[in-house]
Amino acid sequence: MSANSSRIQIVAEDITQLRVDAIVNAANRSLLGGGGVDGAIHRAAGPELLAECRTLGGCETGQAKLTRGYRLPARWVIHTVGPIWQGGDRGEPELLAACYRNSLRVAVEQGVRTIAFPAISCGVYGYPLDQAAQIAVREVRSFLAGDDRIQIVDLVCFGGEVRQAYEQAMGT
Ligand code: AR6
Repeated sequence: MSANSSRIQIVAEDITQLRVDAIVNAANRSLLGGGGVDGAIHRAAGPELLAECRTLGGCETGQAKLTRGYRLPARWVIHTVGPIWQGGDRGEPELLAACYRNSLRVAVEQGVRTIAFPAISCGVYGYPLDQAAQIAVREVRSFLAGDDRIQIVDLVCFGGEVRQAYEQAMGT
């Protein structure tokens, strides 16, 4: 298995188009859809996704729950709920780290080998990009160091600012 960092890719694409085993959704606690990447995933997956989400009873911040991908190229969607940025002293860093760890744990339990993450909490939820990118890269690296089942983790950036933050966090 290759070194941890070479299993992480920075990808500038619409996450709904990616041919990976699982994509992660930056959802809200209801899991009943919303704007941003959540809205895009629900539109691309079709109404069956919302129907399955209705059976899940929501999701706590920092946790992750799995559904099928329906009309998406990805077989699975892992829904996680990032923290709303409130200045950084309300547990936001720990909760954001938990999103990455729990999503990867759910992925491994399902036999996922390739997975793509959006920049969780970096849109509507207002998390500062640089800090969020550092947490994302740190958590993914540390998970991959202890697990050789996941082959590729895509960090998806929608916009140049996100790419820059990831590149800086990766040290590239
Ligand atoms: N592919 C990849 N990334 C995307 C896409 C896409 N198609 N669309 C947006 N992004 P956000 P949050 C990026 O706001 O901050 C929803 O209403 C976007 O540019 O989607 O965790 C939920 O229901 C940004 O970098 O998620 C919640 O209520 C990143 O995805 C709330 O928003 C995350 O932005 C969650 O807010």
